[in-house]
Amino acid sequence: SSGAHVPALVIGTGYGGSVAALRLAQAGVDVHMIEMGMAWDTPGSDGKIFCNTREPDYRSYWLRTKSKAPLNYFLGFPIDRNIPRYTGILDAEDFSGITVYQGRGVGGGSLVNGGMAVTPKRENFGAVLPSVNAAEMYDIYYPRANAGLGVSSIDPAWFDSTACYQYARVGRKHAQRSGFPFVFVPDVYDWDYMKQEAAGTVTKSALAGEILYGNNHGKKSLQQTYIARAKATGRVAISPLHKVTSVAPAAGGGYTVVIDQINTNGDTTATKTVTADRVFFAAGSVGTSKLLVKLKATGALPNLNDEIGKGWGDNGNVMCGRANHMWDPTGSLQSAIPCAGIDNWAAGGAFAEVAPLPTGIETYASFYLSITKNPNRAQFSWNAATGKVDLNWQTSWKQPSIDMAKTIFDKINSKEGTIYRTDLFGTYKIWGDHLTYHPLGGAVLNKATDNYGRLAGHPGLYVIDGSLIPGNTSVNPFVTITALAERNIEKIIATDL
Ligand code: FDA
Repeated sequence: SSGAHVPALVIGTGYGGSVAALRLAQAGVDVHMIEMGMAWDTPGSDGKIFCNTREPDYRSYWLRTKSKAPLNYFLGFPIDRNIPRYTGILDAEDFSGITVYQGRGVGGGSLVNGGMAVTPKRENFGAVLPSVNAAEMYDIYYPRANAGLGVSSIDPAWFDSTACYQYARVGRKHAQRSGFPFVFVPDVYDWDYMKQEAAGTVTKSALAGEILYGNNHGKKSLQQTYIARAKATGRVAISPLHKVTSVAPAAGGGYTVVIDQINTNGDTTATKTVTADRVFFAAGSVGTSKLLVKLKATGALPNLNDEIGKGWGDNGNVMCGRANHMWDPTGSLQSAIPCAGIDNWAAGGAFAEVAPLPTGIETYASFYLSITKNPNRAQFSWNAATGKVDLNWQTSWKQPSIDMAKTIFDKINSKEGTIYRTDLFGTYKIWGDHLTYHPLGGAVLNKATDNYGRLAGHPGLYVIDGSLIPGNTSVNPFVTITALAERNIEKIIATDL
């Protein structure tokens, strides 16, 4: 409530925020988490908490009146549909040169993501987080993160036989025939549950196209892992539909935090002010960067350094589809949870997930989300005229990603005698180069903060999310975000509290 005082306030309930809350609470600190999205703990009139990718409804998008699917065309026709404006689960946030997809709600990105839980190869870690001791990460914090998130891998024998991964087996065959290493990708999905879905003994979830707008069973989001444990300490309170708009030094020490309470139409219904001894920015790469850039530019946090807003990257995301021959059907039943990828990172700078197209019909398409070593980095800046934060990414900056993805798919197409699909992102458009699922950076570790996430110039303020990571993790990012948060919060608890 307004006027309250809290020892630790955490902005956001994604990976970084959930790790911070759990570990602070275990250390005896009372924590208040502020989350702009909904709680996602109550079923709608259809009995389900989350809606399905095939029928996006009011629950699907964050304050939009039309859906904005990442794959926005099929057979050349636009597939987006009108929806009621609502504080839905997936935010397709538009900047001038890129749309950044993010989860909104208690659990952050863990509510909407594919659950692919990948630890980078150790030889690549030095390029991901150059100032961090790799031995500590691989001996202590990556194992801790994997355990905390509930990561496991698909049973290879089941993979070989189940109808729902035919699309991935086609992906494997094509990768291997072109000489590329094909690797299984661990996930937080409960694989035993998925086996039962395939056997028809439980309610279908991954096998019913549930992913992008939430997953009603099977996937362990942060609500089932870190947040459940944090709540069980009795020291963690969470306020959904509350958005932090300002943090500034308080007269008597600590920080004054201004919070808007919003309704499901996105309107502010109340504004609250609390003081906090410590504030943890865990609003995600975009959320934290937007807040810090604004607070520095408007003088609320004048001592932040000039690294604020810099070093932002898209993890090199680019999508494409390939058209298979009629003898290579990818299956009408496709698990929405990807489980494998093609690794050409060392030779070509690309790691491609073999992704599902869970349309429910045979498409003869292979679909891929590539993570590439794109070197371009963008910067957030305050636009005083609009009162908003801009990002200077340009669509043409995806060209290196396209070139790197082509090191895989040009070769496969040539070997298989196949072509790219041109009907998935518009008419005659091969590359999904307008978006990212993996925003990273904006408050980079050891630059905007010290080597543990303490913000320069304002003691008691910390960054503990994907904005610490300078633009690329070489694989899907959330395990690295979680492991880095585990490392940093351990140090902060040991030395600052
Ligand atoms: P995260 O974005 O998770 O959480 C930030 C939270 O802060 C959000 O809940 C937000 O609503 C809230 N917030 C923001 N501003 C606020 C404010 N001012 N006040 C209050 N709250 C505020 N990664 C991966 O490793 N494997 C995968 O398979 C995938 N797949 C995938 C699919 C899709 C569709 C998306 C969108 C993303 C992925 N990702 C992924 C990416 C992954 O989800 C992402 O990297 C992490 O969620 C980022 O974690 P953070 O803790 O940085 O922030």
